[in-house]
Amino acid sequence: MSESKHDTDTTEELPRFPAPRSRTCPFAPPPDLLKLQDEGKPLVRVRSWDGTTPWLALTHATQRALLSDQRLSANIGAPGYPHTTEAMKVHAAEMQPSINNTDGPEHARWRRMLTSSFTRRRMEILRPAIQQITDDLIDKMLTGPNPTELNEALSLPLPSLMICELLGVPYEDHEFFQEHATITNAVNRRPEENAATTATLRKYISDLIKKKMDTPGEDVLSDLGERIKAGDLTMEEAAPLGHILLVAGHDTSANMITLSTALLMQHPEQLAALRERSGDDAYMAKAVEELLRYLTLPHLLARRAVVEDFEFEGETIRAGEGVIASLPAANWDPAAFSEPDSLDLARSASHHLAFGWGPHQCVGQQLARIELQVVFSTLFRRIPTLRLAADLDDLTFKEDSQAYGIYRLPIAW
Ligand code: HEM
Repeated sequence: MSESKHDTDTTEELPRFPAPRSRTCPFAPPPDLLKLQDEGKPLVRVRSWDGTTPWLALTHATQRALLSDQRLSANIGAPGYPHTTEAMKVHAAEMQPSINNTDGPEHARWRRMLTSSFTRRRMEILRPAIQQITDDLIDKMLTGPNPTELNEALSLPLPSLMICELLGVPYEDHEFFQEHATITNAVNRRPEENAATTATLRKYISDLIKKKMDTPGEDVLSDLGERIKAGDLTMEEAAPLGHILLVAGHDTSANMITLSTALLMQHPEQLAALRERSGDDAYMAKAVEELLRYLTLPHLLARRAVVEDFEFEGETIRAGEGVIASLPAANWDPAAFSEPDSLDLARSASHHLAFGWGPHQCVGQQLARIELQVVFSTLFRRIPTLRLAADLDDLTFKEDSQAYGIYRLPIAW
């Protein structure tokens, strides 16, 4: 932060980030961010929870440029990195280097460890398993209590079971694995509970990799075992990587299922079209991209630290400052999407930034897409009478969480 320009008085006047959502339109990005964008500001200073004043990138073009710029670092320990919360700042000091917090050739090495595990072909192989899990969960839901709660019945178990499938976790360990994944993803977990569950999961993952080194299967932990045998990776690096995949692939997809369901219920014509065309793969693929764009649930991302001074959009960006790319703002930028506030499931929205941009773009995006395509082509077709069993006003949205969502979504049919 350049102290001379932003003394305490002027800092107080800066817009706050995160900005509050509108109660009347909880699916839209915060109105204050859209207003700043509307004023033609590609980049502004904002005031963060700890009094720091990182840059906030508001437009699609600005974010694409900055997120692929090597003068920005994903290293959460770098000076000026704009941490999301105090807890995350404290946690940053103990973080080991891995895929999500390294740059340049070091980061490229981590990505290489996962390239063959996450190819489109490999993800498509999982589609029948995703369909089966979705159908089983819906069968179970239909024979259970009505109304029910969507996160518990479908949105959380589906990605959790898929991650187990992807990593190669044996079926009999699913419950143990899901229980620890839930603790890992809880927002208000206590530090000691966090440390204990991290240690338990990492031990579990490394034991499993050891077994898979003897008897490999078609799964990510077996791939990591092969990398260890080849001398490309150590066990100390592999277990945390498995843990990151578990965390990154769990909450995100779950929130997307719940949030999209609630949104579609507010748009009956779009929902009717989606139900009617649920067998049309090309339409379903477009619909999912539009839902990802419209909702952009990684609403507090993406964050970087500046490591070298440079000029950008008429501003001097200095080493040691923070940059936040507001992904929801980019996805509602009228220069990139016409009438961004209208939900149009038939539009071509695949250039959205919901999976980020540049070298850190989401590793699991193809898996997430398939999960969402399968869920939305199945849920509304199989339960045509599905409806919300609560008023929209009574729902609690996850403004404070890494992935935007809804805590509980009561549904009935
Ligand atoms: C709807 C679902 C998902 C969304 C919206 C999402 C979003 C994102 C975003 C925005 C980033 C970039 C963060 C940044 O630039 O700082 C990211 C990175 C990442 N995602 Fe996802 N994600 C989803 C699902 C998944 C799944 C299913 C997996 C794994 C199975 C996964 C694994 C990862 C990993 C490992 C990274 C770090 C990549 C790197 O830093 O190089 N994500 N995700």
